[in-house]
Amino acid sequence: MRVVVIGSGGREHALAWGIAKSPKCETLFVMPGNGGTETFAENVAVDITDHAAVVSFAKANAVDFVVVGPDAPAVAGLGDDLRAAGLLCFSPSKAAAQLEGSKSFTKALCDEAGVPTAGYGHFDNEADALAYVRKHGAPIVIKADGLAAGKGVTVATTQPEAEDAVHDCFSGAFGASGSSVVIEAFLEGEEASVFALCDGTDVVLLPSAQDHKRVWDGDRGPNTGGMGAYSPAPVMTDEMTARVRDEIILPSVKRMAERGTPFTGVLFAGIMVTDTGPKLIEYNVRFGDPECQVLMLRLQSDLLELLVATARGELASVTPVFSDEVALTVVVATKGYPVDVPKGSEIRGAEGLDGPDIMVFHAGTQRRDGRLLANGGRVLNVTALGRTVAEAQARAYAAVDRIDWPEGFCRRDIGWRAVERENVR
Ligand code: AMP
Ligand code: GLY
Repeated sequence: MRVVVIGSGGREHALAWGIAKSPKCETLFVMPGNGGTETFAENVAVDITDHAAVVSFAKANAVDFVVVGPDAPAVAGLGDDLRAAGLLCFSPSKAAAQLEGSKSFTKALCDEAGVPTAGYGHFDNEADALAYVRKHGAPIVIKADGLAAGKGVTVATTQPEAEDAVHDCFSGAFGASGSSVVIEAFLEGEEASVFALCDGTDVVLLPSAQDHKRVWDGDRGPNTGGMGAYSPAPVMTDEMTARVRDEIILPSVKRMAERGTPFTGVLFAGIMVTDTGPKLIEYNVRFGDPECQVLMLRLQSDLLELLVATARGELASVTPVFSDEVALTVVVATKGYPVDVPKGSEIRGAEGLDGPDIMVFHAGTQRRDGRLLANGGRVLNVTALGRTVAEAQARAYAAVDRIDWPEGFCRRDIGWRAVERENVR
C-alpha cells in the first residue's frame, strides 16, 4: 500500500514507524513530518489545512490510505474530504470529531447514553455561568467549549479563581472557543487514558496509558501537552477496563451510530477512577501524544492492518497483540516550554540509540545541513520497554543521558506513581 500519515509530532513518528514495519507498506509519506520521519519515510511539505491540496497530492501519488494523526484536521473535516474524493482514511468524520471539538456535545451525549461523568452546566453568557459557580462553590472546573489547544480548562480550587476563569472565557481569552462554557463538578481520583479503535459499530480496546501533564517533577507547574507517559496504567485493572468499556465506551459509540454520526478511528477516553467507579473526563478523537508512543512500542501486531481494518469497518475480525512489558516515554523539551520556545539549537547524540528496547521518537525536530535542530516545544520522546515500570524508566533515562542538548530539559520522575506501587508490592 501507498500510505500518507498526516502530522508532525512524536505521535505521528510513532505511527509512521509502526506502519513502516508492515510488509504491506510499500511507500510511506508523512505530511509534513519531522527530522525523525524523514530518515525512513518521505516528508511532504503540503499545508494540511488546505484539504484540496492534500487530496490532490494523494491522487497524484496513487495513495491507498491516509492516517490522520492530530485532532485539528479531524475536527476540520479532512477525513470527510478525503473520503468524498474516494480515498480510504483513518479519521473520524467532522460530525463525530465533535466528541473532541465540543465539550458540551460530549456532555449531551453522556446524558443521552447514560455515561457516568461529572455533573455540569452549559452556558453561553457570563451572568448565568457566574450564578452557577456561586451556587455550587469551589473546587469546580471551568471549560471553554471548543478546541483551545489544551489551554481551555481551569481546575479552580477557590471561588475567586473560578469566577476569574469564567470571566476570562467570556472576555475572549480562548477566542470563539470561550463564548460557550461548560462548568462541571470536580472529580477526585486517579486519572488514566483508555484507547479504543472504533469502526462505527465494533470496538477493539487497546491498552491503557497514563501521562504526566505538568511540566515539573512531582506533577507541579503549568499544564503541557504531556511530559511523559507509560502503559499500562496500573489503576486500569482488567475489571476497571471492562467497566470503562461497558459503561462508557460502548454506550457512547452506540449512541453516536444511532444519531447518524458513527464514530470511526481511535477514541481516547480520559477517565477519572473515583470511589464510585470510572467517570468520563473527556473524549479525544485521536491517539494521545505521547501516549501513542508507548502503545506503539508495545504493539506486536501489524499496525497498518489494524488501521485499515478500522477504516474499512472490519474490526470484528481483528485482535491486536500487545507485549506484556511496560513501555515508558520521557519527553525531552526545549527549555522554556510550555511558555516560550526558542528554536534552532543543535541536538547531538540522539541518533543510534534505537534498539529492541529503546526508540527515540522525534517531535519538534528538523534536519539542516546534516545537523539535527530543535524546532518546537516537545522535541524528543525517549521511549523504552521493560519488565517493570522501574526497568523501563531506568532504560529511558539511560538513553536520555546520552543525548547532548544543553538547551533541552526533561522531567526526571516519569512513572513515579507506578514505580511507588511496584515498590510497595
Ligand atoms: P481536559 O482538557 O478536559 O483533559 O482537562 C485537562 C485536565 O483537567 C484533565 O486531564 C484533568 O486532570 C483535569 N480535569 C478536567 N475535568 C476535571 C474534573 N471534572 N475534575 C477534576 N479534574 C478535571
Ligand atoms: N497527552 C495528552 C493528549 O494527547 O491530549
